[in-house]
Amino acid sequence: MEVNYPRNNEDKKLEHLFDDSDLNVYDQNVINLGVGAPGPDILVNCCEIFEKATIHRMKKETVNQGMLFQYGPPVGLPEVRSGIANFLTEAYKSEVKSEDIIVTTGATQGMHIILSTLIDLNGYIFVDEVTYMVALETFQQFNTLKIIPVKLNSDGVDIDELRAGLKKNHFKSESKSYWGLYYAIPTYHNPTGIIFSKDILEKLISLAREFDILVACDDVYNTLYYGNNDAQKRLYAYDNLNDEDFKGNVISNGSFSKIIGPGLRFGWLEAPPRCKIILESSGIFNSGGCLNNFTSGIMASLFELKLAQSHAKMVKDLYQERMLATCEILNNHLPKSCKFIEPQGGYFIWIKLPEHVDANDFLRVCLENNKIFFIPGNRFSFDNSFKNCFRISIAFHKKEVMIRAMMQICDELKKYLNL
Ligand SMILES: Cc1ncc(COP(=O)(O)O)c(C=O)c1O
Repeated sequence: MEVNYPRNNEDKKLEHLFDDSDLNVYDQNVINLGVGAPGPDILVNCCEIFEKATIHRMKKETVNQGMLFQYGPPVGLPEVRSGIANFLTEAYKSEVKSEDIIVTTGATQGMHIILSTLIDLNGYIFVDEVTYMVALETFQQFNTLKIIPVKLNSDGVDIDELRAGLKKNHFKSESKSYWGLYYAIPTYHNPTGIIFSKDILEKLISLAREFDILVACDDVYNTLYYGNNDAQKRLYAYDNLNDEDFKGNVISNGSFSKIIGPGLRFGWLEAPPRCKIILESSGIFNSGGCLNNFTSGIMASLFELKLAQSHAKMVKDLYQERMLATCEILNNHLPKSCKFIEPQGGYFIWIKLPEHVDANDFLRVCLENNKIFFIPGNRFSFDNSFKNCFRISIAFHKKEVMIRAMMQICDELKKYLNL
């Protein structure tokens, strides 16, 4: 059959990722609660801090032969890697070693690199039955990988079901370090907002070691905790290298997108020796000489001048305010037949409507009557289930807008359910 290939590139001239779609979060006519990104009041502060950090770094460069503009060290400049490690050690209240850190351009690219370098492409990816929808799309691009959804409980992945899947499918990879991967978001899960319990995290380590898979944690929300407690201990810290049976079965994939700004494209991998050896000798890190040397240099100054730290605190306080105000409305006004678990951090609230209700239909009503948008649950599911759920993000809009929108959603829901 003859194929007619297009002869012109359509050029949409977008201003940002969400331009020209239902998700245009800057559209003043709609309150879009779908997008997981910081809003303009947060991003605008970046102008001042990055101006300071850039001037600071350029002064150094004039006496350093402009070395920053040379190909960089594959895993990143030492000063930025220790800047990241110190920042995280403080935020996590748990040691992060700079020798474990590899600079990336964010978690999306970090995941792509994990898949292309560490995982047998004839192998398996285990995912939560609801998970970050764009990660699912990334996995599907590697079309020889088999994706297996696993039940998600309120305290984390269902360990028995995961074990059964690992047992049934495991094989010995001849070509790559790991035959399989479990993609996890253990802290402030996207879309459900849950955290995995200590018990589940410990069991995950045992399982990962027993079947020798890699658990790749999307740790992009970890530092955004709003309760009285400290940060949740990340899974990477459970894979203790002093254990007798330690092999290196967890990699932490982090990002400054939510803490500073997604346009920065700056993140990190926290990798055990077994992974780091492979990553640092791979073409993707070697050919380019670090994924983003220039940005790394500016970021090193941002850490040194403590501007990253003060910005991150401001951002966290604002998100916390938005999350608490939104949950208060839900606690007081969400119909009793609907449920939500109050998140202790992160961006997202997952609302469950009665089983028979389709959130896609309710969205249509909300858009029509209130001009409010959110993302229906099936968008996060590998097999298009969870239609009775939806996800809202607290990140973009100010507290007052969140309060107004949530009141409208609750009132609309009461009408919709004939209450
Ligand atoms: C779980 C998760 N991982 C990764 C990303 C994207 O992160 P980055 O901007 O670092 O690529 C997001 C953003 O929504 C996310 O929710």
